[in-house]
Amino acid sequence: MKISERVERVPPSGIRRFFELTEELDDVISLGVGEPDFTAPWSAREAAIDSLERGRTSYTANRGMAALREAIAERSRERYDLDYDPDEEVLVTAGASEAIDVAFRAFVDPGDRVAIAQPSYVSYVPGVTFAGGEPVPIPTGEADDFELTAEALREHGAADAEALVFCYPNNPTGATMSKQDLEPIAAFAREHDLTVLADEIYADLTYEGDHTSIATLPGMRERTVVFNGFSKAYAMTGLRLGYALAPPEAITAMNRVHQYSMLSAPTTAQHAAIDALDNCDDAVVEMRSQYDRRRRFVLSRFDEMGIDCFTAKGAFYVFPESPWEDAEAFAEALLDAEGVAVVPGDVFGAGGEGHLRVSYATGMNELREAMDRIERFLD
Ligand SMILES: Cc1ncc(COP(=O)(O)O)c(C=O)c1O
Repeated sequence: MKISERVERVPPSGIRRFFELTEELDDVISLGVGEPDFTAPWSAREAAIDSLERGRTSYTANRGMAALREAIAERSRERYDLDYDPDEEVLVTAGASEAIDVAFRAFVDPGDRVAIAQPSYVSYVPGVTFAGGEPVPIPTGEADDFELTAEALREHGAADAEALVFCYPNNPTGATMSKQDLEPIAAFAREHDLTVLADEIYADLTYEGDHTSIATLPGMRERTVVFNGFSKAYAMTGLRLGYALAPPEAITAMNRVHQYSMLSAPTTAQHAAIDALDNCDDAVVEMRSQYDRRRRFVLSRFDEMGIDCFTAKGAFYVFPESPWEDAEAFAEALLDAEGVAVVPGDVFGAGGEGHLRVSYATGMNELREAMDRIERFLD
């Protein structure tokens, strides 16, 4: 069977490879996955069960249930000053992943250059490639606290791009960007007429300072698409629910792709999501405070071991420097010797080399044991 050249060009996910290695071993502690160890709040699960008991098993409107779009718009306005019309400016999708994918397909023409701040979530480069675009990596580094800078954009050719993708709080580094730091990025986007695709799925998991969306900066609302979802803050990864916020013409274009590929996001999950927004704030606060405790613990243990690690301020990852020059060799040897799985940073692209991504979305006891094992491995 002929496989498309676009698909042939995209290698299998580097994270997957590490998952597969862990499956062959016993007694593995995985700090490799980007998935909450919590279960979705009970009340959201109950809403899902209730929707099934009532037989709500049909498609919803393509754009998502009106009640959910309203709840999303209200929450985004209250919490992040993002003012979007629920009828025309919100699209509910099967996870943020689908929102990102339909955005690439809606906005990228063959050969379009799309700048991607890296290290980055692993789906952006393949997503742009599948859409026929040309990914343009824009490295960020520890010297700038893994924040995107206008200098990096200029230096790496973003001025000629059609669009710019970035994610703060960031997967894999845990970096965040303040309003002040976003201003030059917004100025660059305005000057070079870039569409900005801002993945803010970790916005509710910000531990130091407040989250600012670039869409709230002057002149940015009309050129930005904001992605968010329920997977991370609400521990609802398996329910597959996300959304995009953008001006009407952008949502209409994205919905054109979405309505032919997905029809509508999962109905049961939409009922759970309405409940999550209505009733689960306390659960999110509790999960966030536990992540924060773990974050501090992991950072302090790396510090005690003499491993240089930038102070991650959001998401649930830290991104220490690899104790060995070859981070992949280190990750494999650590897995082999001590059964601790971490992901080499180069999997996430430019700027990630020589680092490791360590997820602390793992219970405190396991985390303690994993850090002890890493320390033992280094001795
Ligand atoms: C930055 C980022 N965006 C999007 C996603 C996908 O989220 P969802 O489960 O909503 O598709 C992830 C999942 O790891 C992520 O880390």
